[in-house]
Amino acid sequence: MATKEVVQRDSFTSKLGIIAAIAGSAVGLGNIWKFPYITGVYGGGAFVIVYLICIVLIGLPIVLSEFIIGRKAQRNAVGSFRFLAPRTYWYVPGLMGVTAAVMILAFYGVVAGWTLEYLLKAITNSFAGKNPADLEGIFGGFISQIARPIFWQIIFMSLTCWIVVAGIKGGIEKASKLLMPVLLVIIVILDTRAITLPGASEGLSFLFKPDFSKLTAEGILIALGHAFFSLSLGMGTLITYSSYMSKEENLATTAVQITIVDTGIALLAGIAIFPAVFAFGIEPGAGPGLVFITLPNVFQQMPGGYIFCILFFLLLAVAALTSSISILEVVVAYFVEELHLKRRTATIMSAVGITIIGFPCSLSMGVWSKVTFMDRTFFDWLDFIASNILLPLGGLLIVAFVGWILGREGAEQELTNDGELSAGYLPLFMFLAKFVAPLVIAVVFLHGLGLF
Ligand code: PFF
Repeated sequence: MATKEVVQRDSFTSKLGIIAAIAGSAVGLGNIWKFPYITGVYGGGAFVIVYLICIVLIGLPIVLSEFIIGRKAQRNAVGSFRFLAPRTYWYVPGLMGVTAAVMILAFYGVVAGWTLEYLLKAITNSFAGKNPADLEGIFGGFISQIARPIFWQIIFMSLTCWIVVAGIKGGIEKASKLLMPVLLVIIVILDTRAITLPGASEGLSFLFKPDFSKLTAEGILIALGHAFFSLSLGMGTLITYSSYMSKEENLATTAVQITIVDTGIALLAGIAIFPAVFAFGIEPGAGPGLVFITLPNVFQQMPGGYIFCILFFLLLAVAALTSSISILEVVVAYFVEELHLKRRTATIMSAVGITIIGFPCSLSMGVWSKVTFMDRTFFDWLDFIASNILLPLGGLLIVAFVGWILGREGAEQELTNDGELSAGYLPLFMFLAKFVAPLVIAVVFLHGLGLF
């Protein structure tokens, strides 16, 4: 193992800060926009159960694997592999992670920009008196414009850049500690409203009562892919964040806490949305437009809907922001530590570059929607390559690295903080890391490529 001096680095300063930042990364558009709509499309309760199984059996071991790698090496995603396995090709998964981060943030910034436009629309009461067809028209009309979505994307990316420039303790930790409680309060208010609506129980049973006849093979694969995306796995985000964690933290406890928060918020988002959707007799399987078309419709029929609508889009924007900063940090940490750029320069450069890559993503919702290659737009390609290829492959390599290269001893040393803590779960973790997780991910990966 290399014995290079560990460079003096910024770090998280408190346990709460660590949890807030990592949970902030995990909880994002994935939880509040995507989880409810895919649950709607893939049949409700049975899908939720499969998702929970994926989280526990596959997600949690990878969270822990990323923590082990990052905290052991105290370096960025590429540098961590270089440090732990010098003179090998193991840095390649790190590079894939940085590439995936660039691609994901390019389109994530576009969708996050939409949430700001919708927040403004909610504040100016633009949904009042509109019927579902009008709302569909508003959404389609907005995303297909050239300048307006790009304007909001630039605003959102500037906010992300502003926080990341300020560093780990003064930027990311501070912002997460402020924004995550806001997010929690908003979601609890929205849940309380939703479950007290007449007819709410139908929505709750859609979410929690499994009907396995509705479960499809595709649904299972989507559930696993979403577990990855939702927990921010496979691209070194958690390697990067955990590299700023102190050697005293209990990695396993932190991993379990983060997983519970992420899954809990996704379920709370479902509880905020489905009872309302059912109470107003609306179709739950509306797809990606669920929160941008269906919900404004629901809110404008609901007593107090004006204020709840504002809160909902504020929630979405806040959740997106605490995730986007974690994605940008993967790229910035790499530039700073491997290419020796100044943090400010690295952050501005990468944010500008990623925003520009996002432009064609935004345009592919409108003027460039016909510009396709093999039936996919630029947006679809970035999403496909990152989510269906780089993330699963990255996750597989990360968990296999811990299972097979660091091995039981390397993992044990980090999980027990050099013998300070007990880790009775270690044999189970090693079994999942060596066999179960790589195998299951391999199946998803091949399916994602259409080979299985
Ligand atoms: N976990 C985030 C969400 O659910 O929206 C998205 C995400 C963040 C994916 C960071 C990947 C990542 F590295």
